[in-house]
Amino acid sequence: MSDDWELKICCMGAGYVGGPTMAVIAKRCPKIRVCVVDISQKQIDAWKTDDLPIYEPGLLEVVQECRGRNLFFSTDIATEIEAADIIFISVNTPTKTQGIGAGRAANIKNCELCARTIADVATTGKIVVEKSTVPVRTAQAIARVLQSNEKGLKFQVLSNPEFLAEGTAIADLMNPDRVLIGGQQSEEGLAAAAKLVSVYAHWVPREQIITTNLWSSELSKLVANAFLAQRVSSINSISALCEATGADVLEISRAVGMDDRIGKRFLQPSIGFGGSCFQKDILNLVYLCETYGLNECAAYWNQVILMNDFQKKRFSEKIVASMFNTVTGKKIAMLGYAFKKDTGDVRETPSMFVLRDLVHEQANVHVYDPQVKREDMWIEMDYTCGMNKDNTPRLEESVVTAPDAYAACEKAHALLILTEWDEFKTYDYKKIYDSMMKPAFVFDGRNLLDHDALRAIGFEVHALGKPDPLKFSDL
Ligand code: UDX
Ligand code: UDX
Repeated sequence: MSDDWELKICCMGAGYVGGPTMAVIAKRCPKIRVCVVDISQKQIDAWKTDDLPIYEPGLLEVVQECRGRNLFFSTDIATEIEAADIIFISVNTPTKTQGIGAGRAANIKNCELCARTIADVATTGKIVVEKSTVPVRTAQAIARVLQSNEKGLKFQVLSNPEFLAEGTAIADLMNPDRVLIGGQQSEEGLAAAAKLVSVYAHWVPREQIITTNLWSSELSKLVANAFLAQRVSSINSISALCEATGADVLEISRAVGMDDRIGKRFLQPSIGFGGSCFQKDILNLVYLCETYGLNECAAYWNQVILMNDFQKKRFSEKIVASMFNTVTGKKIAMLGYAFKKDTGDVRETPSMFVLRDLVHEQANVHVYDPQVKREDMWIEMDYTCGMNKDNTPRLEESVVTAPDAYAACEKAHALLILTEWDEFKTYDYKKIYDSMMKPAFVFDGRNLLDHDALRAIGFEVHALGKPDPLKFSDL
């Protein structure tokens, strides 16, 4: 190993966050050695090929440029920890499924395990950076585990939450709105924070790198996600009101968003937000409020989740009600399964809840998504909505994964748009209409398609929060 490196970084956890983040650090800092380690051999092996374990636009190019130069992947965790000056902890922190706080509190077991491994194998002091989203004061737990080493080593713990969104991770990392670094306000803590600032300063303007105390940094991440999710739930609640009144949610979104105190972004109605962060972080915030006896604050944030559940349920109910109150035995084409476009990630995807409801109604669902792998659908379903092969015997037969959208739609009674993939806008909908059963329904859960054009072809279109011409003839 060459010792000419400006700095050596090790990242524990080669997932959606660790992988892309380290790839961009390696690209922007060619003199820093970056190694990503993981307990999963399969995960590490995949990072060494061109078939990366996660899909993210632009990621492969960055990995190809840096891999073998200053970006490495390994399962030799002990060696890499020992060699590093800075260690990022970027392992998953799933919501607890049992015990105290089950269903809401984040389980920081993996973070603690990483801290224990570091304390065990390190022979010199390190800067340990908490990258995973964690409850406030986790840094204290990590610090205590690290300090309890019997070698008299001194560690500094920093919090550096990730704000990247999937699908745009590389762009978000290359041009972040801000980089947040929290540290202890002691001399050593400030020095550690300054070192991490110097890494990001290779490409991020200094005024966009903010340093705070540890607890502000940890809490900021939860608050940012809660505020974003709240906007989506707010506009989704209005989409329901629009459908009842004949108002158009997109017109409202535009009118409201032009107030620059409110802003345009995150006002796009959907069948509900999904992804690994929003629900998990809000539940985490709710739990935190309750822990401190702040029941009103907990109830306030919990309502964001309840609104999201309502929006998902409302969509499935609308499908069944519109299709003459029965979808039993009917073929339904589901276009899109990922929680948003440009990712194959299905964690907390709202599509899963629609699929579950349709399977319970005994529909035959044909799913097409450009990036989602069939086997991933079952794992997440079992984990999140409790539906698996054992308790839903028809599950595997009721769900077909189609090779393309045309196959999914052939002889289908309805076509659902659940993810806003760009390619869905480019299809020949006349051809699709001709191949479908009549009446041919479209339920556009993302308001993605040109509804007037579809109606002209003959489809019966149901959109989100848009006036339904069958109901409002005065428009
Ligand atoms: C995770 C957290 O879920 C999120 O809260 C945080 O903001 C960032 O880290 P993500 O990167 O999406 O998100 O997780 P995932 O894609 O599941 O990757 C985690 C990786 O850590 C996996 O590859 C897993 O094998 C690895 N891991 C887990 C370890 O190497 N060691 C462990 O002890 C546990
Ligand atoms: C989010 C945060 O944006 C990011 O900063 C954080 O670090 C991780 O969590 P991500 O979950 O990847 O990122 O996706 P995001 O783009 O925020 O979308 C979350 C969900 O909200 C998706 O299901 C998306 O479809 C939905 N959404 C988003 C809407 O329904 N309407 C909108 O206007 C915006």
